[in-house]
Amino acid sequence: MSAEWNSALETPTCDSSTQRKLFIETVGCQMNVLDSEMVVASLRRQGYSLVDSAADADTILFNTCSVREHAEEKVYANLAKLKKMKLAHPEKIVGVMGCMAQKDQRIVFERAPYVDLVVGPGQLHRIPELLQRIAEGQGKQMAVSLGRRDGSQDEIRRSHESFDPLRDPTMRPTPFQAYLRIQIGCDKFCTYCIVPMTRGPEQGRPPSQILAEAHELARQGCKEITFLGQTVNSYRYREGQRETRLADLLEMVHEVDGIERLKFVTSYPKDMDRRLLETVRDLPKCSTYLHVPAQSGSDAVLKRMKRGYTVADYYEMMDRIRDIIPDAAVSSDFIVGFCGETERDFEQTVRLVERCRFKNSFIFKYSVRPGTKAAELYPDDVPDDVKARRNNELLAVQNAISQEDNLKFLGRRVEVLVEGPSKTSIRRGESGPLRQMMGRTMCDRIVVWDGNERQAGHTLPVLIHDASSHTLFGTVETVQITSAPETVQLNIL
Ligand code: 5AD
Ligand code: SF4
Repeated sequence: MSAEWNSALETPTCDSSTQRKLFIETVGCQMNVLDSEMVVASLRRQGYSLVDSAADADTILFNTCSVREHAEEKVYANLAKLKKMKLAHPEKIVGVMGCMAQKDQRIVFERAPYVDLVVGPGQLHRIPELLQRIAEGQGKQMAVSLGRRDGSQDEIRRSHESFDPLRDPTMRPTPFQAYLRIQIGCDKFCTYCIVPMTRGPEQGRPPSQILAEAHELARQGCKEITFLGQTVNSYRYREGQRETRLADLLEMVHEVDGIERLKFVTSYPKDMDRRLLETVRDLPKCSTYLHVPAQSGSDAVLKRMKRGYTVADYYEMMDRIRDIIPDAAVSSDFIVGFCGETERDFEQTVRLVERCRFKNSFIFKYSVRPGTKAAELYPDDVPDDVKARRNNELLAVQNAISQEDNLKFLGRRVEVLVEGPSKTSIRRGESGPLRQMMGRTMCDRIVVWDGNERQAGHTLPVLIHDASSHTLFGTVETVQITSAPETVQLNIL
Protein backbone atom coordinates (compact mmCIF):
# COMPACT_ATOMS: atom_id res chain seq x y z
CA MET A 1 0.00 0.00 0.00
CA SER A 2 1.43 3.42 -0.83
CA ALA A 3 1.85 6.22 1.68
CA GLU A 4 -0.45 8.36 -0.43
CA TRP A 5 -3.16 5.74 -0.22
CA ASN A 6 -2.82 5.40 3.54
CA SER A 7 -3.28 9.08 4.02
CA ALA A 8 -6.35 9.02 1.76
CA LEU A 9 -7.83 6.37 4.02
CA GLU A 10 -7.18 8.37 7.14
CA THR A 11 -8.46 11.68 5.89
CA PRO A 12 -11.30 11.12 3.45
CA THR A 13 -12.05 14.33 1.61
CA CYS A 14 -15.57 15.29 0.64
CA ASP A 15 -15.02 18.82 -0.55
CA SER A 16 -18.14 20.02 -2.39
CA SER A 17 -15.98 22.01 -4.82
CA THR A 18 -14.65 18.69 -6.18
CA GLN A 19 -18.03 16.92 -6.35
CA ARG A 20 -18.35 15.15 -9.67
CA LYS A 21 -20.56 12.57 -11.34
CA LEU A 22 -18.88 9.35 -12.36
CA PHE A 23 -19.83 6.81 -15.02
CA ILE A 24 -17.78 3.65 -15.23
CA GLU A 25 -18.03 0.89 -17.83
CA THR A 26 -16.37 -2.42 -17.10
CA VAL A 27 -15.50 -5.23 -19.51
CA GLY A 28 -13.39 -8.35 -18.99
CA CYS A 29 -12.77 -10.70 -16.10
CA GLN A 30 -13.75 -10.76 -12.41
CA MET A 31 -10.51 -8.89 -11.60
CA ASN A 32 -11.85 -5.93 -13.55
CA VAL A 33 -15.23 -6.09 -11.80
CA LEU A 34 -13.37 -5.95 -8.49
CA ASP A 35 -11.03 -3.16 -9.66
CA SER A 36 -14.04 -1.06 -10.68
CA GLU A 37 -15.60 -1.60 -7.24
CA MET A 38 -12.38 -0.36 -5.63
CA VAL A 39 -12.07 2.68 -7.88
CA VAL A 40 -15.69 3.67 -7.26
CA ALA A 41 -15.21 3.23 -3.50
CA SER A 42 -12.13 5.47 -3.56
CA LEU A 43 -13.82 8.13 -5.69
CA ARG A 44 -16.94 8.15 -3.53
CA ARG A 45 -14.62 9.08 -0.67
CA GLN A 46 -13.63 12.11 -2.72
CA GLY A 47 -17.29 13.09 -3.04
CA TYR A 48 -18.05 11.56 -6.43
CA SER A 49 -21.48 10.07 -7.07
CA LEU A 50 -22.23 7.31 -9.54
CA VAL A 51 -24.56 7.89 -12.53
CA ASP A 52 -26.04 5.46 -15.08
CA SER A 53 -24.93 7.00 -18.37
CA ALA A 54 -21.95 8.73 -19.91
CA ALA A 55 -24.23 11.61 -20.96
CA ASP A 56 -25.05 12.41 -17.30
CA ALA A 57 -21.45 12.10 -16.11
CA ASP A 58 -18.61 14.57 -15.94
CA THR A 59 -16.04 11.81 -15.41
CA ILE A 60 -16.23 8.75 -17.66
CA LEU A 61 -14.00 5.74 -17.02
CA PHE A 62 -13.56 2.63 -19.15
CA ASN A 63 -12.15 -0.41 -17.38
CA THR A 64 -10.66 -2.45 -20.19
CA CYS A 65 -9.46 -5.95 -21.13
CA SER A 66 -6.61 -7.02 -23.43
CA VAL A 67 -7.02 -10.78 -23.48
CA ARG A 68 -8.46 -10.76 -27.01
CA GLU A 69 -8.27 -8.16 -29.79
CA HIS A 70 -12.05 -8.02 -30.10
CA ALA A 71 -12.42 -6.67 -26.52
CA GLU A 72 -9.95 -3.89 -27.28
CA GLU A 73 -11.57 -2.92 -30.55
CA LYS A 74 -14.91 -2.59 -28.78
CA VAL A 75 -13.40 -0.16 -26.27
CA TYR A 76 -11.85 1.95 -29.04
CA ALA A 77 -15.24 1.94 -30.83
CA ASN A 78 -16.98 3.08 -27.62
CA LEU A 79 -14.35 5.78 -27.10
CA ALA A 80 -14.93 7.02 -30.66
CA LYS A 81 -18.62 7.46 -29.79
CA LEU A 82 -17.62 9.91 -27.05
CA LYS A 83 -15.77 12.21 -29.45
CA LYS A 84 -18.78 14.42 -30.24
CA MET A 85 -19.69 14.71 -26.57
CA LYS A 86 -16.13 15.65 -25.64
CA LEU A 87 -16.04 18.35 -28.35
CA ALA A 88 -19.28 19.84 -27.01
CA HIS A 89 -18.18 19.46 -23.35
CA PRO A 90 -14.39 19.63 -23.17
CA GLU A 91 -14.61 19.85 -19.37
CA LYS A 92 -15.76 16.21 -19.19
CA ILE A 93 -12.91 13.88 -18.22
CA VAL A 94 -12.50 10.62 -20.14
CA GLY A 95 -10.25 7.93 -18.68
CA VAL A 96 -9.08 4.49 -19.77
CA MET A 97 -7.99 2.09 -17.03
CA GLY A 98 -7.15 -1.62 -16.85
CA CYS A 99 -5.16 -4.01 -19.01
CA MET A 100 -5.53 -2.16 -22.33
CA ALA A 101 -4.28 1.03 -20.67
CA GLN A 102 -1.18 -0.82 -19.46
CA LYS A 103 -0.59 -2.53 -22.81
CA ASP A 104 -1.23 0.42 -25.16
CA GLN A 105 -0.11 3.28 -22.89
CA ARG A 106 0.42 6.39 -25.10
CA ILE A 107 -1.17 4.64 -28.07
CA VAL A 108 -4.52 5.21 -26.31
CA PHE A 109 -3.97 8.99 -26.55
CA GLU A 110 -2.96 8.61 -30.21
CA ARG A 111 -5.95 6.47 -31.20
CA ALA A 112 -8.41 8.45 -29.06
CA PRO A 113 -7.02 12.00 -28.69
CA TYR A 114 -9.92 13.12 -26.47
CA VAL A 115 -8.87 10.70 -23.71
CA ASP A 116 -7.46 12.57 -20.68
CA LEU A 117 -6.32 9.73 -18.48
CA VAL A 118 -4.58 6.35 -18.94
CA VAL A 119 -4.06 4.16 -15.84
CA GLY A 120 -2.77 0.58 -15.71
CA PRO A 121 -4.21 -2.01 -13.29
CA GLY A 122 -1.20 -1.68 -10.98
CA GLN A 123 -1.68 2.09 -10.55
CA LEU A 124 -5.38 2.39 -9.82
CA HIS A 125 -4.76 3.87 -6.37
CA ARG A 126 -3.53 7.02 -8.14
CA ILE A 127 -6.80 7.73 -9.97
CA PRO A 128 -8.20 10.28 -7.45
CA GLU A 129 -4.96 12.31 -7.54
CA LEU A 130 -4.68 12.13 -11.35
CA LEU A 131 -8.30 13.22 -11.85
CA GLN A 132 -7.62 16.13 -9.54
CA ARG A 133 -4.63 17.18 -11.64
CA ILE A 134 -6.68 17.05 -14.84
CA ALA A 135 -9.46 19.11 -13.22
CA GLU A 136 -6.83 21.69 -12.20
CA GLY A 137 -5.78 22.04 -15.84
CA GLN A 138 -2.52 20.14 -15.66
CA GLY A 139 -3.33 18.30 -18.91
CA LYS A 140 -3.39 14.62 -19.80
CA GLN A 141 -2.19 12.16 -17.17
CA MET A 142 -0.82 8.65 -17.46
CA ALA A 143 0.21 6.16 -14.76
CA VAL A 144 1.39 2.72 -15.82
CA SER A 145 3.52 0.05 -14.20
CA LEU A 146 6.98 -1.07 -15.34
CA GLY A 147 7.23 -3.64 -18.15
CA ARG A 148 8.50 -7.14 -17.28
CA ARG A 149 12.02 -6.22 -18.40
CA ASP A 150 12.10 -2.57 -17.35
CA GLY A 151 13.75 -2.81 -13.94
CA SER A 152 14.87 -5.08 -11.13
CA GLN A 153 12.43 -7.79 -9.98
CA ASP A 154 11.76 -5.73 -6.90
CA GLU A 155 11.12 -2.48 -8.77
CA ILE A 156 8.77 -4.23 -11.20
CA ARG A 157 6.91 -5.89 -8.34
CA ARG A 158 6.52 -2.62 -6.47
CA SER A 159 5.20 -0.86 -9.58
CA HIS A 160 2.23 -3.30 -9.67
CA GLU A 161 0.35 -2.46 -6.51
CA SER A 162 -2.52 -4.41 -5.12
CA PHE A 163 -5.43 -2.05 -4.65
CA ASP A 164 -7.77 -3.56 -2.14
CA PRO A 165 -8.35 -1.50 0.96
CA LEU A 166 -11.81 -0.15 0.16
CA ARG A 167 -15.02 -2.03 -0.53
CA ASP A 168 -18.29 -0.65 -1.88
CA PRO A 169 -21.25 -3.05 -1.55
CA THR A 170 -23.41 -0.96 -3.87
CA MET A 171 -20.99 -1.61 -6.74
CA ARG A 172 -21.25 -5.38 -6.44
CA PRO A 173 -23.65 -7.35 -8.62
CA THR A 174 -25.33 -8.29 -5.31
CA PRO A 175 -24.44 -6.95 -1.84
CA PHE A 176 -24.18 -10.45 -0.38
CA GLN A 177 -21.59 -11.74 -2.86
CA ALA A 178 -18.08 -10.36 -3.17
CA TYR A 179 -14.76 -11.01 -4.84
CA LEU A 180 -11.69 -10.92 -2.66
CA ARG A 181 -8.31 -10.67 -4.36
CA ILE A 182 -5.71 -12.94 -2.82
CA GLN A 183 -3.11 -12.68 -5.57
CA ILE A 184 -2.16 -10.26 -8.30
CA GLY A 185 -0.26 -10.87 -11.53
CA CYS A 186 0.91 -14.08 -13.16
CA ASP A 187 4.28 -15.75 -13.74
CA LYS A 188 3.16 -18.67 -15.89
CA PHE A 189 3.76 -16.90 -19.23
CA CYS A 190 1.52 -19.11 -21.36
CA THR A 191 2.68 -18.11 -24.83
CA TYR A 192 -0.71 -16.79 -26.03
CA CYS A 193 -1.46 -14.67 -22.96
CA ILE A 194 -0.94 -10.95 -22.36
CA VAL A 195 -1.87 -11.03 -18.65
CA PRO A 196 1.68 -11.48 -17.24
CA MET A 197 2.60 -8.28 -19.11
CA THR A 198 -0.44 -6.21 -18.13
CA ARG A 199 -0.85 -7.37 -14.52
CA GLY A 200 2.81 -7.96 -13.72
CA PRO A 201 4.55 -10.53 -11.51
CA GLU A 202 2.60 -12.99 -9.37
CA GLN A 203 2.32 -11.69 -5.80
CA GLY A 204 0.28 -13.15 -2.98
CA ARG A 205 -1.39 -10.68 -0.62
CA PRO A 206 -0.57 -11.04 3.08
CA PRO A 207 -3.00 -13.43 4.84
CA SER A 208 -3.69 -10.85 7.57
CA GLN A 209 -4.96 -8.36 4.94
CA ILE A 210 -7.13 -11.03 3.31
CA LEU A 211 -8.65 -12.06 6.64
CA ALA A 212 -9.31 -8.44 7.64
CA GLU A 213 -11.05 -7.85 4.33
CA ALA A 214 -13.17 -11.01 4.77
CA HIS A 215 -14.30 -9.70 8.19
CA GLU A 216 -15.13 -6.34 6.62
CA LEU A 217 -17.16 -8.04 3.88
CA ALA A 218 -19.06 -10.12 6.46
CA ARG A 219 -19.76 -6.92 8.40
CA GLN A 220 -21.23 -5.43 5.21
CA GLY A 221 -23.64 -8.41 5.00
CA CYS A 222 -21.73 -10.46 2.46
CA LYS A 223 -22.46 -14.21 2.56
CA GLU A 224 -20.39 -15.53 -0.31
CA ILE A 225 -16.75 -14.71 -0.96
CA THR A 226 -14.92 -15.70 -4.12
CA PHE A 227 -11.12 -15.56 -3.86
CA LEU A 228 -9.57 -14.18 -7.04
CA GLY A 229 -6.19 -14.87 -8.60
CA GLN A 230 -5.00 -15.61 -12.14
CA THR A 231 -3.62 -18.89 -10.77
CA VAL A 232 -5.42 -18.76 -7.44
CA ASN A 233 -4.36 -22.21 -6.28
CA SER A 234 -0.68 -21.35 -6.79
CA TYR A 235 -1.09 -18.77 -3.98
CA ARG A 236 1.74 -18.71 -1.48
CA TYR A 237 2.84 -16.13 1.05
CA ARG A 238 6.01 -16.45 3.08
CA GLU A 239 6.61 -14.76 6.44
CA GLY A 240 9.88 -15.98 7.93
CA GLN A 241 9.64 -19.78 8.09
CA ARG A 242 5.89 -19.85 7.70
CA GLU A 243 4.28 -20.38 4.32
CA THR A 244 0.56 -19.83 3.78
CA ARG A 245 -1.19 -21.62 0.89
CA LEU A 246 -4.72 -21.37 -0.50
CA ALA A 247 -5.90 -24.26 1.72
CA ASP A 248 -4.77 -22.26 4.80
CA LEU A 249 -6.64 -19.17 3.62
CA LEU A 250 -9.82 -21.21 3.10
CA GLU A 251 -9.49 -22.58 6.64
CA MET A 252 -8.99 -19.07 8.05
CA VAL A 253 -11.86 -17.41 6.22
CA HIS A 254 -14.12 -20.41 6.89
CA GLU A 255 -14.16 -19.28 10.53
CA VAL A 256 -15.56 -15.84 9.71
CA ASP A 257 -19.12 -15.55 11.06
CA GLY A 258 -21.70 -14.61 8.46
CA ILE A 259 -19.77 -16.07 5.53
CA GLU A 260 -21.72 -19.06 4.19
CA ARG A 261 -19.93 -19.88 0.95
CA LEU A 262 -16.35 -19.79 -0.28
CA LYS A 263 -15.22 -20.15 -3.88
CA PHE A 264 -11.94 -19.55 -5.69
CA VAL A 265 -11.09 -18.87 -9.35
CA THR A 266 -9.09 -19.45 -11.57
CA SER A 267 -7.10 -22.59 -10.82
CA TYR A 268 -3.96 -23.80 -12.57
CA PRO A 269 -4.02 -27.58 -13.29
CA LYS A 270 -0.49 -28.28 -12.00
CA ASP A 271 -1.23 -26.82 -8.57
CA MET A 272 -4.47 -28.71 -7.85
CA ASP A 273 -2.94 -30.76 -5.05
CA ARG A 274 -4.46 -33.31 -2.65
CA ARG A 275 -4.31 -31.03 0.37
CA LEU A 276 -6.32 -28.30 -1.37
CA LEU A 277 -8.93 -30.79 -2.62
CA GLU A 278 -9.24 -32.40 0.80
CA THR A 279 -9.70 -28.95 2.34
CA VAL A 280 -12.49 -28.17 -0.14
CA ARG A 281 -14.10 -31.53 0.68
CA ASP A 282 -13.83 -31.09 4.46
CA LEU A 283 -14.90 -27.46 4.88
CA PRO A 284 -18.69 -27.30 4.60
CA LYS A 285 -18.68 -23.68 3.43
CA CYS A 286 -16.42 -24.47 0.44
CA SER A 287 -18.17 -24.60 -2.90
CA THR A 288 -17.55 -27.84 -4.78
CA TYR A 289 -16.95 -25.88 -7.96
CA LEU A 290 -13.50 -25.79 -9.55
CA HIS A 291 -12.56 -23.75 -12.61
CA VAL A 292 -9.41 -25.36 -14.03
CA PRO A 293 -8.76 -24.37 -17.66
CA ALA A 294 -7.31 -27.15 -19.83
CA GLN A 295 -6.97 -24.88 -22.93
CA SER A 296 -6.33 -27.84 -25.31
CA GLY A 297 -6.46 -31.64 -25.44
CA SER A 298 -3.36 -31.97 -27.63
CA ASP A 299 0.11 -32.38 -26.14
CA ALA A 300 1.71 -30.66 -29.14
CA VAL A 301 -0.54 -27.61 -28.70
CA LEU A 302 -0.13 -27.54 -24.90
CA LYS A 303 3.63 -27.54 -25.45
CA ARG A 304 3.48 -24.61 -27.87
CA MET A 305 1.19 -22.86 -25.39
CA LYS A 306 3.81 -23.57 -22.69
CA ARG A 307 1.09 -24.63 -20.28
CA GLY A 308 3.48 -26.79 -18.27
CA TYR A 309 1.43 -30.02 -18.29
CA THR A 310 0.47 -32.84 -20.66
CA VAL A 311 -2.96 -34.25 -21.38
CA ALA A 312 -2.04 -37.24 -19.17
CA ASP A 313 -1.21 -34.81 -16.31
CA TYR A 314 -4.60 -33.15 -16.75
CA TYR A 315 -6.41 -36.51 -16.66
CA GLU A 316 -4.47 -37.42 -13.55
CA MET A 317 -5.65 -34.18 -11.94
CA MET A 318 -9.27 -34.90 -12.96
CA ASP A 319 -9.00 -38.39 -11.43
CA ARG A 320 -7.69 -36.82 -8.22
CA ILE A 321 -10.61 -34.38 -8.13
CA ARG A 322 -13.20 -37.15 -8.76
CA ASP A 323 -11.52 -39.38 -6.20
CA ILE A 324 -11.53 -36.77 -3.42
CA ILE A 325 -14.70 -34.79 -4.29
CA PRO A 326 -16.89 -37.14 -6.36
CA ASP A 327 -19.65 -34.57 -6.94
CA ALA A 328 -17.35 -31.64 -7.79
CA ALA A 329 -18.42 -29.50 -10.74
CA VAL A 330 -15.40 -28.68 -12.89
CA SER A 331 -15.37 -26.08 -15.62
CA SER A 332 -12.70 -25.24 -18.17
CA ASP A 333 -11.49 -22.74 -20.75
CA PHE A 334 -10.36 -23.69 -24.26
CA ILE A 335 -8.63 -21.82 -27.03
CA VAL A 336 -9.43 -23.18 -30.49
CA GLY A 337 -7.35 -22.42 -33.58
CA PHE A 338 -4.12 -21.78 -31.69
CA CYS A 339 -1.05 -21.57 -33.98
CA GLY A 340 -0.48 -24.87 -35.81
CA GLU A 341 -3.61 -26.58 -34.39
CA THR A 342 -4.47 -29.43 -36.79
CA GLU A 343 -7.80 -31.20 -37.21
CA ARG A 344 -6.31 -34.09 -35.21
CA ASP A 345 -5.24 -31.73 -32.39
CA PHE A 346 -8.77 -30.36 -32.30
CA GLU A 347 -10.29 -33.85 -32.22
CA GLN A 348 -8.13 -34.60 -29.19
CA THR A 349 -9.61 -31.53 -27.49
CA VAL A 350 -13.09 -32.88 -28.25
CA ARG A 351 -12.05 -36.23 -26.66
CA LEU A 352 -10.81 -34.41 -23.57
CA VAL A 353 -14.11 -32.56 -23.17
CA GLU A 354 -16.02 -35.82 -23.60
CA ARG A 355 -13.87 -37.59 -21.05
CA CYS A 356 -13.77 -34.84 -18.42
CA ARG A 357 -17.49 -33.97 -18.61
CA PHE A 358 -17.09 -30.36 -17.53
CA LYS A 359 -20.02 -28.52 -15.99
CA ASN A 360 -19.40 -25.89 -18.65
CA SER A 361 -16.56 -24.62 -20.81
CA PHE A 362 -15.64 -21.16 -21.99
CA ILE A 363 -14.38 -21.49 -25.56
CA PHE A 364 -12.38 -18.80 -27.33
CA LYS A 365 -10.96 -18.40 -30.82
CA TYR A 366 -7.24 -17.71 -30.63
CA SER A 367 -6.46 -14.00 -30.92
CA VAL A 368 -2.86 -12.92 -31.50
CA ARG A 369 -1.63 -10.60 -28.76
CA PRO A 370 1.38 -8.47 -29.69
CA GLY A 371 3.99 -8.70 -26.96
CA THR A 372 3.42 -12.41 -26.28
CA LYS A 373 5.78 -15.27 -27.16
CA ALA A 374 3.23 -16.87 -29.49
CA ALA A 375 2.95 -13.63 -31.50
CA GLU A 376 6.75 -13.61 -31.83
CA LEU A 377 7.32 -17.33 -32.53
CA TYR A 378 4.34 -18.85 -34.32
CA PRO A 379 2.25 -17.77 -37.31
CA ASP A 380 -1.49 -17.39 -36.66
CA ASP A 381 -2.14 -19.98 -39.37
CA VAL A 382 -5.62 -21.33 -38.63
CA PRO A 383 -8.13 -19.45 -40.82
CA ASP A 384 -10.91 -17.63 -38.99
CA ASP A 385 -13.69 -19.77 -40.50
CA VAL A 386 -11.92 -22.91 -39.21
CA LYS A 387 -11.59 -21.32 -35.74
CA ALA A 388 -15.31 -20.46 -35.83
CA ARG A 389 -16.30 -23.99 -36.88
CA ARG A 390 -14.15 -25.59 -34.16
CA ASN A 391 -15.57 -23.17 -31.62
CA ASN A 392 -19.15 -24.14 -32.57
CA GLU A 393 -18.38 -27.86 -32.66
CA LEU A 394 -16.71 -27.89 -29.26
CA LEU A 395 -19.51 -25.82 -27.77
CA ALA A 396 -22.11 -28.27 -29.14
CA VAL A 397 -20.24 -31.20 -27.55
CA GLN A 398 -19.98 -29.35 -24.24
CA ASN A 399 -23.64 -28.26 -24.29
CA ALA A 400 -24.83 -31.84 -24.86
CA ILE A 401 -22.78 -32.96 -21.83
CA SER A 402 -24.01 -30.05 -19.69
CA GLN A 403 -27.62 -30.88 -20.60
CA GLU A 404 -27.18 -34.60 -19.83
CA ASP A 405 -25.56 -33.89 -16.48
CA ASN A 406 -28.13 -31.24 -15.56
CA LEU A 407 -30.95 -33.71 -16.24
CA LYS A 408 -29.54 -35.84 -13.40
CA PHE A 409 -30.80 -33.12 -11.04
CA LEU A 410 -34.47 -33.78 -11.88
CA GLY A 411 -36.39 -34.58 -8.70
CA ARG A 412 -33.48 -33.51 -6.51
CA ARG A 413 -33.55 -30.82 -3.84
CA VAL A 414 -30.68 -28.32 -3.98
CA GLU A 415 -29.64 -25.47 -1.67
CA VAL A 416 -29.64 -22.22 -3.62
CA LEU A 417 -28.16 -18.88 -2.64
CA VAL A 418 -30.65 -16.46 -4.20
CA GLU A 419 -28.96 -13.72 -6.24
CA GLY A 420 -31.95 -11.78 -7.56
CA PRO A 421 -34.33 -11.57 -10.54
CA SER A 422 -33.32 -13.85 -13.44
CA LYS A 423 -32.04 -12.49 -16.76
CA THR A 424 -35.36 -13.53 -18.32
CA SER A 425 -37.27 -11.55 -15.72
CA ILE A 426 -35.14 -8.47 -16.38
CA ARG A 427 -35.47 -8.88 -20.17
CA ARG A 428 -39.24 -9.22 -19.88
CA GLY A 429 -39.27 -6.02 -17.82
CA GLU A 430 -41.07 -7.76 -14.95
CA SER A 431 -41.66 -5.43 -12.03
CA GLY A 432 -43.12 -5.86 -8.57
CA PRO A 433 -42.05 -8.46 -6.03
CA LEU A 434 -43.37 -11.55 -7.87
CA ARG A 435 -40.93 -12.46 -10.62
CA GLN A 436 -38.67 -15.18 -11.91
CA MET A 437 -35.71 -15.42 -9.52
CA MET A 438 -32.23 -16.82 -9.99
CA GLY A 439 -29.61 -18.33 -7.69
CA ARG A 440 -26.77 -20.84 -7.64
CA THR A 441 -26.20 -24.22 -6.06
CA MET A 442 -23.09 -25.00 -4.01
CA CYS A 443 -21.60 -26.43 -7.23
CA ASP A 444 -22.29 -23.19 -9.12
CA ARG A 445 -25.25 -24.41 -11.20
CA ILE A 446 -27.75 -21.72 -12.15
CA VAL A 447 -31.30 -22.32 -10.87
CA VAL A 448 -34.44 -20.31 -11.73
CA TRP A 449 -37.99 -20.44 -10.31
CA ASP A 450 -41.08 -18.27 -10.04
CA GLY A 451 -40.43 -16.46 -6.80
CA ASN A 452 -40.37 -13.26 -4.87
CA GLU A 453 -37.78 -10.49 -4.81
CA ARG A 454 -37.69 -10.75 -1.01
CA GLN A 455 -35.95 -14.11 -1.41
CA ALA A 456 -32.73 -12.37 -2.57
CA GLY A 457 -29.81 -13.04 -0.23
CA HIS A 458 -31.41 -16.12 1.38
CA THR A 459 -30.31 -19.71 0.99
CA LEU A 460 -33.35 -21.77 0.02
CA PRO A 461 -34.17 -25.39 -0.82
CA VAL A 462 -35.34 -25.73 -4.42
CA LEU A 463 -36.86 -28.86 -5.94
CA ILE A 464 -35.68 -29.29 -9.55
CA HIS A 465 -38.27 -30.29 -12.18
CA ASP A 466 -36.61 -29.36 -15.49
CA ALA A 467 -33.16 -28.66 -16.92
CA SER A 468 -31.45 -27.19 -19.96
CA SER A 469 -27.71 -27.13 -20.67
CA HIS A 470 -27.25 -23.89 -18.71
CA THR A 471 -30.12 -23.79 -16.24
CA LEU A 472 -32.02 -25.88 -13.70
CA PHE A 473 -35.72 -25.01 -13.27
CA GLY A 474 -37.35 -25.59 -9.90
CA THR A 475 -39.81 -24.69 -7.18
CA VAL A 476 -38.91 -23.31 -3.77
CA GLU A 477 -39.90 -25.73 -1.04
CA THR A 478 -41.77 -24.37 1.97
CA VAL A 479 -39.41 -22.56 4.28
CA GLN A 480 -40.09 -20.13 7.07
CA ILE A 481 -37.63 -17.35 7.65
CA THR A 482 -38.00 -15.79 11.05
CA SER A 483 -36.61 -12.32 10.88
CA ALA A 484 -38.20 -10.47 13.77
CA PRO A 485 -40.68 -8.92 14.02
CA GLU A 486 -42.29 -10.67 11.06
CA THR A 487 -42.11 -14.16 9.64
CA VAL A 488 -41.76 -14.34 5.90
CA GLN A 489 -43.01 -17.42 4.17
CA LEU A 490 -40.96 -17.67 1.03
CA ASN A 491 -42.91 -20.11 -1.13
CA ILE A 492 -45.79 -17.71 -1.39
CA LEU A 493 -46.37 -18.55 -5.06
N1 5AD B 1 -6.72 -15.66 -27.48
C1 5AD B 1 -7.86 -16.31 -27.15
N2 5AD B 1 -8.18 -16.63 -25.89
C2 5AD B 1 -7.30 -16.30 -24.92
N3 5AD B 1 -7.32 -16.50 -23.60
C3 5AD B 1 -6.20 -15.96 -23.06
N4 5AD B 1 -5.43 -15.42 -24.03
C4 5AD B 1 -6.10 -15.62 -25.20
C5 5AD B 1 -5.82 -15.31 -26.54
N5 5AD B 1 -4.70 -14.68 -26.90
C6 5AD B 1 -8.39 -17.24 -22.92
C7 5AD B 1 -7.85 -18.43 -22.13
C8 5AD B 1 -7.98 -17.98 -20.71
C9 5AD B 1 -9.21 -17.09 -20.79
C10 5AD B 1 -9.38 -16.15 -19.67
O1 5AD B 1 -9.01 -16.39 -21.99
O2 5AD B 1 -8.68 -19.55 -22.38
O3 5AD B 1 -8.15 -19.06 -19.81
FE1 SF4 C 1 -2.52 -16.12 -18.82
FE2 SF4 C 1 -1.50 -18.58 -18.46
FE3 SF4 C 1 -1.29 -16.72 -16.50
FE4 SF4 C 1 -3.67 -17.80 -17.06
S1 SF4 C 1 -1.87 -18.91 -16.28
S2 SF4 C 1 -3.23 -15.57 -16.75
S3 SF4 C 1 -3.55 -18.08 -19.29
S4 SF4 C 1 -0.35 -16.63 -18.53
